[in-house]
Amino acid sequence: MSAQTLALALLVALVLAVPAAWAHDPPRQRSAAQLMDVLMWNREPIGGPFALVDHQGRRRTDADYRGKLLLVYFGFTGCVDVCPTDLLHIGQALDKLGEAGKGVQPLFITVDPARDTPRRLAAYVPSFHPTLVGLSGSAGAVRRAADHYRVYFRKSPGGSATDYDVDHSAYVYLMDRDGSYLDFFPPGTSADRMAEVLRPFLARP
Ligand code: NI
Repeated sequence: MSAQTLALALLVALVLAVPAAWAHDPPRQRSAAQLMDVLMWNREPIGGPFALVDHQGRRRTDADYRGKLLLVYFGFTGCVDVCPTDLLHIGQALDKLGEAGKGVQPLFITVDPARDTPRRLAAYVPSFHPTLVGLSGSAGAVRRAADHYRVYFRKSPGGSATDYDVDHSAYVYLMDRDGSYLDFFPPGTSADRMAEVLRPFLARP
């Protein structure tokens, strides 16, 4: 085989191989670190439309929550550490705000829709706050919502089909009454700190 023929053969092989690889592997999800960088440095817009089902079985979109500040949190009910702590802080922050807290709608969007059915969410969310809404949906609908918020989540290696953990980023997103992004709270933010940040936004007419 001449050098030219070899080069041509390699080129043909590459041209054939690359699209085949793309077809079989969906676009690789960005790492938790890459997505954290996007959020920390405001590199991309945060938030966007979603179409999910709430813990009472009603179809819900982001547009249903216009007019209130939103605290949006992605997690799953089987999470033993970070999720319950952050959800507890969200509930406590709303209680600290008293009457003004009614201007805030907290949303818990599951990253484990296979197990977190509306029924399961209904048994979970009231432990944290009476106004907390749990949202689930198809795997695709949840992935699209999470992508808008630059949320990382991935089933942890190991475990079984029904008993597994989900790695996920754990930021609390503060969204404005028109759905636009205002700020985020890192994991472990105290209820006092959340209330302090929320107060001036709630005081606006
Ligand atoms: Ni969690």
